[in-house]
Order: sequence, then C-alpha cells, then structure tokens
Amino acid sequence: MLEVNHVTKSFGGVSAVAECSLNVAQGSITALIGPNGAGKTTLFNIITGHYKPDNGQILFQGRRIDGLRPDQVFKQKIYRTFQITREFAQMTVLENLMLIPPRQVGENIWNTWFRVKTVKEQEARLQEKALEVLGFVELLELKDEYAGSLSGGQKKLLELARSMMADPQLVLLDEPGAGVNPTLMRKLTANIRKLCQERQITFFLIEHDMDLVMELCNPVIVMSEGKKLMEGTPGEVRQDERVLEAYLGGQHR
Ligand SMILES: Nc1ncnc2c1ncn2[C@@H]1O[C@H](COP(=O)(O)OP(=O)(O)O)[C@@H](O)[C@H]1O
Ligand SMILES: [Mg+2]
Repeated sequence: MLEVNHVTKSFGGVSAVAECSLNVAQGSITALIGPNGAGKTTLFNIITGHYKPDNGQILFQGRRIDGLRPDQVFKQKIYRTFQITREFAQMTVLENLMLIPPRQVGENIWNTWFRVKTVKEQEARLQEKALEVLGFVELLELKDEYAGSLSGGQKKLLELARSMMADPQLVLLDEPGAGVNPTLMRKLTANIRKLCQERQITFFLIEHDMDLVMELCNPVIVMSEGKKLMEGTPGEVRQDERVLEAYLGGQHR
C-alpha cells in the first residue's frame, strides 16, 4: 500500500534519513521502532508532505506522493494524528470531531446563503457520524466535556476518533502509547485493532512501548541510522542481535 524507495533527507550536514526503503502492507498494523535519532519522525514527516525528501520516491497505492503538500497527502486518505492543541482544548469533544472533514458545505458563502437546508442536513449527518465514532471509541459519555479537560489517554482516543471522521485508508501514529495509563492503553489498542479489522484501515505507528508493539503490531520494522535495519514478526525482532546492538550502540554514543 505504501512504498518508501531510497528516501534520503539531511538537515544541514546531519543525515536524518539515508537511502531508506520499506513497505507497509494494506490491512496491516505495522510498527516502526528504533533508537532515538534513527529518523522515524522525519520519515513520517516526509510521508505526510511536511518535508520534501532530498532523494527517493514514496508511492501510495502505486501513485507517487512525494513532493505533495500536506493537504494533498490528506486528500489521498493518509491521515496523521495530531496532538490536541490549545484551540481544540477549548472546544468540546463533539465539536472537535465536527471540525474534521475538509471542505464542508457550510464553508462556501454561496451555500451558506442559498442552500441553508443543505448545510443543516450536512451538519446533522456530520453530528450523527461524530456520535457514532464517539460510541465506537467509547467516549460518548464525555461528548460535552472540554477536550482540554480529558486525561492524556482520553486525548489519544479523541485523536484516534478525529482521524476516523476523515475516513482514512492509512493512519500514521507517532507514539500513541506515550503517557497513557494501562487501562486506556488497552482501550486504545483494542480500538486500533477493531478499526483495522472492521473498517479495513491500515496503521503505521512509531512506538517505544515494546509491550504495545508486541501485542498489536505485525510486522515490526526496525530503523537505525536513517534506514531500515530489519523487518520481522515481533518475536523475530526481539531475538535479533542487530536490533539489540542498534539500541545499545545508540545509548552509548
Ligand atoms: N528539523 C530538523 N532540523 C535539524 N535536524 C533534525 C530535524 N529533524 C530531525 N533532525 C535530526 O535528524 C535525526 C533524526 O531525527 P528523528 O527523525 O526525530 O528521529 P527519531 O524520531 O527516530 O527519534 C536526528 O539526528 C535529529 O537531530
Ligand atoms: Mg521521533
């Protein structure tokens, strides 16, 4: 589904991603792990159009997406979760979801003036969908709370819910488990698995929590020094000498 071919990106003299090639299969929950500074976040930023690669290609469903702007990548139905920012924190959980789909009918002045009925209908549909999504991630009882008042784990669920409003095909998550307590973590992993199985959404996620990776992801891709070191099942990765070396090497540098 997603093909990264020989992608390279440097910042000044610092090589962040170096001739990196990897694939994410449709329908998978693929993990991207590796020591700090391996280039994982930079690679995500390249995939989502936030950085242009110096070299190499990225294909999504056979079409090139490298060089597209973030909004153009979004239109390909590749979605990346973002942290709940300050302005989102001041809106309710439900309002957060109703913001998501781009190009709502109501944004067009012509529509606002002359097609009031259509706007109302669309808003009703949007609300219905938002409520359904909130039910799916079990946040329905919090729909009228301010997003800013949610716990860290609940915010992660809200981020996931926001991504669902856009009907994505591929969702990129950068450390979804960070700062999430074990109970909500189970909810989060159950939701990701459910979205993958029931809605055929593919996930590509960076994660440091190896328990989460072991439980949720297959395959696991290990990145080190800007490129793919190896790929395998969680069990294979756990036993690989090179992976251990990459992590230990990274710590001693
Ligand atoms: N915007 C940037 N400007 C300069 N250097 C950067 C920038 N983003 C990342 N880097 C460097 O690129 C390397 C890879 O970083 P990053 O992609 O954040 O790694 P990871 O997410 O695997 O920890 C690091 O050496 C980092 O300092
Ligand atoms: Mg990172």
